Amino acid sequence: MKQTLENIKAAAMAELASTNADIEQIRVRYLGKKGELTAVLRGMGQLSPEERPVVGQLANEVRAAIEAAIAEKSKEMKEKELNDRLAREKLDVTMPGASIRMGHQHPLTRAQREMEEIFIGMGFEIAEGPEVEYDYYNFQALNIPENHPARDTQDTFYITENILLRSQTSPVQVRVMEQKKPPIRVISPGRVYRSDALDATHSPLFHQMEGLVVDKGITMSDLKGTLETFARKMFGDSTQIRFRPHHFPFTEPSAEVDVSCFVCGGKGCRVCKGEGWIEILGAGMVHPFVLQNCGIDPEVYSGFAFGMGLERVTMTRYGIDDIRLFYENDERFLKQF
Ligand code: DAH
Repeated sequence: MKQTLENIKAAAMAELASTNADIEQIRVRYLGKKGELTAVLRGMGQLSPEERPVVGQLANEVRAAIEAAIAEKSKEMKEKELNDRLAREKLDVTMPGASIRMGHQHPLTRAQREMEEIFIGMGFEIAEGPEVEYDYYNFQALNIPENHPARDTQDTFYITENILLRSQTSPVQVRVMEQKKPPIRVISPGRVYRSDALDATHSPLFHQMEGLVVDKGITMSDLKGTLETFARKMFGDSTQIRFRPHHFPFTEPSAEVDVSCFVCGGKGCRVCKGEGWIEILGAGMVHPFVLQNCGIDPEVYSGFAFGMGLERVTMTRYGIDDIRLFYENDERFLKQF
């Protein structure tokens, strides 16, 4: 029987040493109610009274030894599991983080903000007007009656006979003058529409920025000084401006305004197409009829106005040769700004 006990102990120890799995199963098999050790203890009744305490003590020692070995093994396994987990879940805090990609302003928005800042610095306020506009504001009040040939170049999209998508930001001039009496100093950036086919230089939707100043004693030299200041801030200190006579129904006199090419300085290059000058806007002195239409007395007040294409200024500024790039949302283009 002693031998059986020794065998049980040796077997249990060997099993514990070699397993990495279920030690509970081992405990049940050796120490459980139906376990091998228990079976031996049950058979103790057949032993002689002298043998009993000796075997009993040995049995207790074997039990204690197995229990201790199980406890030890269990502790060892828990430690190993913890170490494995620590190794597995190790976090290197010195690794660079996964960066979040930030977007940025569209080149047109950037150019618009830049232009706004320049005019705000000269005391202008920003005015807004609707993109869906009355024929009256877009044309009639601006001295462009029905059947006037100037409507041909500004054909747009009509909602009804009297309501259209504005073809220029100039109607905001009229809306501002109706609401506010002089002194007036506003710019008005925004979307405009024309029924033009899309190509490298035309788009049915584009942007303009209007400017309007009305006060007593405003002259053409105020217009020149304002535009010169703007051009130098926008395109560089050495920029020159040039006025060419032109015709707009809502200004008299009217002019188209060019800036000296900021790439070649006026010598002629690819950007200015050999001209040395780049046209950026239309301008003039507000026509007395327009002032009158808005309830401002042209005998007392005078004003100047200008309107420029935002795409045009931005394309010039960044050397972009196709207007469609602005609207295609191609990251390869947008990323460059
Ligand atoms: N609205 C004109 C256009 O779209 C541009 C323009 C010219 C605006 C002269 C003005 C101006 O305010 O005075 O072609």
